[in-house]
Amino acid sequence: MILTVGHTKGGVGKTTLALNIAIARALAGRDVWFINGDRQETALIATTIRAEKGITPVIACAQYSDGATLRQQVKQTGGKFDDVVIDVGGRDSTALRSALTFTDALIVPFQPRSFDTWEFASISHLVEEAQSLRGEFPAYAILNCADSTGTDNEEAINALLDYPLLKYLDAPIGRRKSISTAGGKGLSVLEYTPKDAKACAEIQTLIDSIFI
Ligand SMILES: Nc1ncnc2c1ncn2[C@@H]1O[C@H](COP(=O)(O)OP(=O)(O)OP(=O)(O)O)[C@@H](O)[C@H]1O
Ligand SMILES: [Mg+2]
Repeated sequence: MILTVGHTKGGVGKTTLALNIAIARALAGRDVWFINGDRQETALIATTIRAEKGITPVIACAQYSDGATLRQQVKQTGGKFDDVVIDVGGRDSTALRSALTFTDALIVPFQPRSFDTWEFASISHLVEEAQSLRGEFPAYAILNCADSTGTDNEEAINALLDYPLLKYLDAPIGRRKSISTAGGKGLSVLEYTPKDAKACAEIQTLIDSIFI
């Protein structure tokens, strides 16, 4: 499956979730190709840290931040892998637009904040454009850094009702220190010790919801 984690909004947790998804799939025995589709090299650095420490499974990672190259490389090499996970930058980029022309599914992380919900319009518009060219594909909105109390989660989820092309996937990820610390060590939270059972359960639910 080719999965793109993308949004026009920066800092919503795209790289964090993409890294966790790629590693979770590799831990489940899948041959995974992780693509850093951003000029920022965060995903590449995380997998390099992992490789330097000899952590297995090794995650094959390439960087194609230009849309035409991304498309060409995935077409040429993507078929050799069970899963391709593409992390694209937080803006309207050629890599994001290119990925939308061939991805099997799009994951759109969002945080329960107004600035995030205001950006639903622009990513929904890009999905609409891509679907008019190639037909329907699923675009799943994932609540990331969910609050543990209050009504902001619910309000952000309700804001999605105006954007029917973005389907809310009921697999929220909480704001958890273990997730950010693990990422900084090149790890999925599934591999991180001390084990954060709640974070692991959330990531597993996300995986099970995407790869049904
Ligand atoms: N669920 C989470 N819990 C705690 N911290 C998180 C979580 N998700 C992301 N973060 C932290 O939020 C920050 C932004 O995350 P990340 O870099 O993954 O976002 P991004 O959408 O890829 O950003 P960009 O648009 O710059 O590529 C990072 O410091 C990351 O560790
Ligand atoms: Mg990123």
